[in-house]
Amino acid sequence: MSPHVLILGGTTEARELAAELTSHPGIRVTTSLAGRVVRPGPVAGEVRVGGFGGVRGLAGWLRAEGVCAVVDATHPFAETITAHAARAAELTGLPLVVLRRPGWQPGPGDRWHPVPSLDAAAGLLPRLGRRVLLTTGRLGLGAFAHLTELHFVVRSVEPPEPPMPPHTRALLARGPFTLADETALLREHGIDVLVTKDSGGAATSAKLTAARELGLPVVLVRRPPLPPGVTAVPDVATARARLHTVLPE
Ligand SMILES: NC(=O)c1ccc[n+]([C@@H]2O[C@H](COP(=O)([O-])OP(=O)(O)OC[C@H]3O[C@@H](n4cnc5c(N)ncnc54)[C@H](OP(=O)(O)O)[C@@H]3O)[C@@H](O)[C@H]2O)c1
Repeated sequence: MSPHVLILGGTTEARELAAELTSHPGIRVTTSLAGRVVRPGPVAGEVRVGGFGGVRGLAGWLRAEGVCAVVDATHPFAETITAHAARAAELTGLPLVVLRRPGWQPGPGDRWHPVPSLDAAAGLLPRLGRRVLLTTGRLGLGAFAHLTELHFVVRSVEPPEPPMPPHTRALLARGPFTLADETALLREHGIDVLVTKDSGGAATSAKLTAARELGLPVVLVRRPPLPPGVTAVPDVATARARLHTVLPE
């Protein structure tokens, strides 16, 4: 029977790893998606969609499907599934590889304000600007709902969900975004402050360069910590190498 790898997905890196692993005959790869995005892009190998039903559900699925290794390649802010993966790997005794693209690093000219949460970002905003580009995702906008004097442009893949601030304009778009597009967007909407999660990666980093070039402040929501004792690898090649004990080269 082919060795079976479960990739917890929803990121570019997860898709790249699935493509890499399925290019080797004799490896069975299943990518799991939460099912939040209506039309996810194509993924190589098998795909399953929807929650597992907590740690027990995930552990049960791993046993039932004869999985030999778990790769958690979820988004750096997908804290719950990451905790569940760590616990389920412990319960089943399976190797776990956590793949996390590195966070963004500030450079000269950046005016970044790192904060620990969306609430902290909301607390800081009135001191920094009046017209906000918010790219923290379609959920969690309730943290900003009391900011009735500020104007928000919310950019997300799926429509934003209430509660949200009264002056909100939704822009539906999926990266990657170019520097020219991001600069034009900031100018067109008269944006004077940007709020983003520290997602990392190249696909959505142009907004940071655009903000720097326009001299705009950026409120950067820091990543949640990994579960105790869990460390991450930064790229697909390292994740692949870590799987060498359970997979053919
Ligand atoms: N959070 C973000 O900013 C963000 C951004 C881009 C993409 N994503 C992707 O979107 C998905 C959901 O993110 P989230 O922040 O809502 O997750 P989360 O809060 O960590 O997870 C909530 C629940 O959703 C289910 N779930 C999450 N990811 C799953 C997956 N890959 N496969 C199967 N079930 C999954 C699990 O349900 P059960 O307990 O029932 O198993 C989990 O307990 C993830 O796959 C993530 O990679 C998230």
